[in-house]
Amino acid sequence: MSIKISFRNNLPPLIRRSLPSAENQYFKSITKPLQKKESASQNNYNPRQKVEEILKEMNDMVGLKMVKKFIIELQAFVEIQKKREKENLVTEPLVLHMIFSGNPGSGKTTVARLIGKLFKEMGVLQKGHIIECERADLVGEYIGHTANKTREMVKKALGGVLFIDEAYSLARGGEKDFGKEAIDSLVKAMEDHKENLILILAGYRIEMDNFIQTNPGLKSRFPIHISFPDYSIDELMAIGELMLTKRQYEFSPESKIAFKKMFLNMGSFHPYSGNARMVRNIIEKTIRKQAVRLYSEPNPSREDLIRIEAVDLCNDDI
Ligand SMILES: Nc1ncnc2c1ncn2[C@@H]1O[C@H](COP(=O)(O)OP(=O)(O)O)[C@@H](O)[C@H]1O
Ligand SMILES: [Mg+2]
Repeated sequence: MSIKISFRNNLPPLIRRSLPSAENQYFKSITKPLQKKESASQNNYNPRQKVEEILKEMNDMVGLKMVKKFIIELQAFVEIQKKREKENLVTEPLVLHMIFSGNPGSGKTTVARLIGKLFKEMGVLQKGHIIECERADLVGEYIGHTANKTREMVKKALGGVLFIDEAYSLARGGEKDFGKEAIDSLVKAMEDHKENLILILAGYRIEMDNFIQTNPGLKSRFPIHISFPDYSIDELMAIGELMLTKRQYEFSPESKIAFKKMFLNMGSFHPYSGNARMVRNIIEKTIRKQAVRLYSEPNPSREDLIRIEAVDLCNDDI
């Protein structure tokens, strides 16, 4: 895992604009210690508590040590910049467009969603939602079509995150391809809505590196690069267990061993084989298989309903 963050003039970007009200509340709240009384017992909107909940959600994700560390740093950075702004210290626009590189199922979309929510609570974004799109949603078939399609997606994403999956494919087809027009429209949108839109370009590492190298204009516009590594077998197992726990299921000791064997039998892990997404598919099919097994039993107990047995494990995906 590597995270490369580069800032213009080697200085971190600062914030110039004044704070929207949610943001004000947030920074007021961080200046005094969080009191237990004001958290659970009151229904009052408490952005600081929300931030902590989102950070916990992120922390509960398996692995991703460097990503978590970076997000915490970013959060602290924004907080401190706000305090500097209050003291009338020099500020600059905060540039938060990002590139996420990594194989499918490595957690890119999940982290992007959490970042959107986090930035909303921190007052950086108004809504914090995420609009996911890919080449087909942006690139049209005739002159002018692409600009319209891109504008449409940008409009939906305003106040939140526009997440472009397999973004490198916009450069496919060379100069005459409408993908280039989509890139130009996106760059324009970044300028026009720089206070209220974060763009995240995602895709395979090598393809994204090439994409950025061949489009030098993009490099400076996306100062944050986060690399998502493939998960280890232990991490994939922990992800599987977490997915079961969230759904109120549990492995039996035998099925846990069988689950690990599924991964061990795969030999060297193919980088494109789906990481956590593959685990999710296995878990969802396993749950359906358990249901079929239990359906033929007259009175399954609560424990039966929770427990996954080795025979339930479904490995069609491997
Ligand atoms: N570190 C993790 N811990 C727990 N679940 C994860 C983790 N990474 C990914 N997942 C889950 O795996 C699935 C695929 O992840 P996703 O974010 O869509 O990957 P990507 O966008 O990189 O293809 C989602 O259901 C997600 O919640
Ligand atoms: Mg994704």
